[in-house]
Amino acid sequence: MAKVIVVTSGKGGVGKTTSTAALGAALAQRGEKTVVVDFDVGLRNLDLVMGAERRVVYDLINVVQGDAKLPQALIRDKRLETLFLLPASQTRDKDNLTSEGVEIVMNELRETFDWIICDSPAGIERGATLAMRHADVAVVVTNPEVSSVRDSDRIIGLLDAKTAKAERGERMEKHLLLTRYDPNRAERGDMLKVEDVLEILSIPLLGIIPESMDVLRASNLGTPVTLGDARSAPALAYTDAARRLAGETVPMVIPGEKRGLFGKIFGRRAA
Ligand SMILES: Nc1ncnc2c1ncn2[C@@H]1O[C@H](COP(=O)(O)OP(=O)(O)O)[C@@H](O)[C@H]1O
Ligand SMILES: [Mg+2]
Repeated sequence: MAKVIVVTSGKGGVGKTTSTAALGAALAQRGEKTVVVDFDVGLRNLDLVMGAERRVVYDLINVVQGDAKLPQALIRDKRLETLFLLPASQTRDKDNLTSEGVEIVMNELRETFDWIICDSPAGIERGATLAMRHADVAVVVTNPEVSSVRDSDRIIGLLDAKTAKAERGERMEKHLLLTRYDPNRAERGDMLKVEDVLEILSIPLLGIIPESMDVLRASNLGTPVTLGDARSAPALAYTDAARRLAGETVPMVIPGEKRGLFGKIFGRRAA
């Protein structure tokens, strides 16, 4: 049965689009038919990260308004035949995205895909609530800093109030994806530590993605980080997170943990 996931955060620039592309590609690599849907009307970022910006003809709003059929707007990935993109419009007015229209598109996507991953715009306004509206599962992307954690807390409130699932009285499944985590900065106290974030946002942890130049490099190449160098730290972390989404139990790797442990052992010996 199809699963709709919203990748959301409240704050912009935390890694939602990066995470949508990386998780989508990792799920598609499992052989499951996956579509990533760009709800960030006006920005059109996801097509760049997916390396498909030159192939966009029709977009989500065209389909919502009935100007194009869904199969005309879907772009099949050149690397993975199980991966598709439904792009956003760069030029149109985001008010053209109606709640009823989005519902029709989501229902149609559910008929053919195993995974539907919705990349949410920043903010807590209409665009973000439309992106989360039909989700079964939410991935709350958070950076280890106070402002991001606070915004995520607000989004968790919205997920429990403004979604179709919440209105039916059902529980919205929520997962925390901690991104851009830099263990050295956390150790120095310049960033929150994993346990600090978990204490404030008491939703289960889906994964910890390290801060890494590999993310920028992949993005510049138009390659989801999980389709690039599979052994890079962010690719491994995203692949593990995707496996957890698919229901597997995978041990959590905390970036820098090994060194932290060494530090503690050394510290004890020295004492
Ligand atoms: N783990 C990471 N390490 C380094 N840079 C990252 C990481 N995740 C995201 N970024 C960078 O942060 C910026 C914002 O990411 P993006 O996915 O567009 O965020 P959002 O969709 O939430 O606005 C981009 O330049 C992206 O390359
Ligand atoms: Mg984005």
